Amino acid sequence: MRAAGLFAGTLRTMNCKTTSSAQSDTNADRSQETDFALNLISTHQNISPRRLLAPGPSENQIKDMFLAAAAAPDDGQIRPWRFVLVPQDKRHLLAEVFAQALMDRDASATDAQISSAHDKAFRAPFLVLAIARLGPVEPNIDPLQRMVSLGAAIRNVLLCAYSMGFGTSLTSGKAMRTEPMRQLFHLSDGEQAVCCINVGTVSKRKPARAPGADRFCPQFVGGMRFNLGTFGTF
Ligand SMILES: Cc1cc2nc3c(=O)[nH]c(=O)nc-3n(C[C@H](O)[C@H](O)[C@H](O)COP(=O)(O)O)c2cc1C
Repeated sequence: MRAAGLFAGTLRTMNCKTTSSAQSDTNADRSQETDFALNLISTHQNISPRRLLAPGPSENQIKDMFLAAAAAPDDGQIRPWRFVLVPQDKRHLLAEVFAQALMDRDASATDAQISSAHDKAFRAPFLVLAIARLGPVEPNIDPLQRMVSLGAAIRNVLLCAYSMGFGTSLTSGKAMRTEPMRQLFHLSDGEQAVCCINVGTVSKRKPARAPGADRFCPQFVGGMRFNLGTFGTF
């Protein structure tokens, strides 16, 4: 069974705000597009790969997920990242890297711990490695800016998959920086494995996250805090 889009029926072409689309029942200046975007962004949660089962995304859905990635901000159009899909029949190679990385950094790791590290490669039906490209390039965009671009690309993939009804998670760890990892993914100088993106059908959801926008309010010049209830000025 294919995962049904969470927002089936509500996804429509995004229009610039117009008088007719700017009204909503609950918030006079919030458009349906904003409602949709906020709902998608704020209800998305990290779902452990253990809870991500088949089916994963279809080929067309995967294409859409990477169309979304390609829309990330990319100063200089250098595409400072790439993604490598690890299909099921190659997961054993990633599993060996995970297990080896643990054994190399902890000689006292138990068989159970090694086996658990190994099994992590097999959990979600869809898994891609996100790789940052931080080496010399023209124009020479700052590495921090390149990482922001990668973060945006990753988030675009997550939200696109979520809009299709899938659960998603990011997994990283010390294995990312190991030599076997570099070899498996043919990382060149300047490239760095950052994390895996896992996507699948959610077997069990975790409780909804409490709204917490006020924790992340931007600060205004002069120290005045943005207040969600009363729009401040400075
Ligand atoms: C690059 C990156 C790698 C991450 N790797 C892991 C990981 O290996 N394990 C993990 O539990 N969370 C990891 N996280 C955090 C989760 O993605 C998520 O933000 C966190 O679990 C909070 O869940 P929530 O978004 O549902 O609140 C990572 C986040 C980022 C940005």
